[in-house]
Amino acid sequence: MNARKTRRAVLVTGGTGGIGGAVAGELRRRGARCWTGSRRLTDDPDARTLRLDVRDERSIATAIDAITARDGRLDDAVLAHGGGRFADVAALDPVAIRDDLDEHVVGTLRLLRRLRGALGRDGSIVIVGSIAATRAFPGCGSYGAAKAAQRMLALVAAEEFRADGIRVTLVHPGAVDTPLWDGREESFDRARMMPAAALAPLIADLLETPPGAHVTEVTVMPRGGVL
Ligand SMILES: NC(=O)c1ccc[n+]([C@@H]2O[C@H](COP(=O)([O-])OP(=O)(O)OC[C@H]3O[C@@H](n4cnc5c(N)ncnc54)[C@H](OP(=O)(O)O)[C@@H]3O)[C@@H](O)[C@H]2O)c1
Repeated sequence: MNARKTRRAVLVTGGTGGIGGAVAGELRRRGARCWTGSRRLTDDPDARTLRLDVRDERSIATAIDAITARDGRLDDAVLAHGGGRFADVAALDPVAIRDDLDEHVVGTLRLLRRLRGALGRDGSIVIVGSIAATRAFPGCGSYGAAKAAQRMLALVAAEEFRADGIRVTLVHPGAVDTPLWDGREESFDRARMMPAAALAPLIADLLETPPGAHVTEVTVMPRGGVL
């Protein structure tokens, strides 16, 4: 473990979710002061859990202010929020695609705007993208379009935030066994998906990248590849 990163204050969005919850658990095991932010509150023994809706700029500002008030600073962030609206393009509700765009693109933008001012010069932001950003899957027209737009937003931010010493890293997972897949009409073999507990240490490692290096994007697939 990189001692430089221990006891750092970290915000994880989507902390009530499969990936965000696993990342928060991993960071706490490594000694970080980890805060989770989502619309529901987690059952967090540390009480480092904040109500945060990525569609609501004010809730983002309030959450970040609460962290800096309690810990005196915010060092890093992992953005692991958002769901998906899955339907064939011909059946896609134009309103639904706005929800995907609002969570994954505009929500990420709202967070990045605030985080740029809040993080210090050694800060890191890891954004959970998706393999669906670069690969076409039937039923993923809305979700994939949002993830593709989120990817380019993050890549541009990665270049711009260098000026402030902040590293932005994109992680593109393949299928991860989380509640995101609950209720999907298609049948997927969830046993072949990556466990969130396998992805979480890799994301935590990215926050511990040595200071002289910057991982810009990385793809992490289930061992058996695409489902
Ligand atoms: N599972 C996969 O196969 C997979 C693969 C590639 C990428 N991803 C990406 O990984 C991220 C996390 O997905 P997951 O699999 O962990 O899904 P999940 O288990 O369904 O968790 C989603 C999380 O996002 C939060 N969330 C949803 N809308 C939000 C909003 N408006 N504001 C704040 N938080 C919100 C949810 O909490 P609340 O409901 O409490 O707000 C929940 O904590 C997503 O960006 C997803 O696209 C997932």
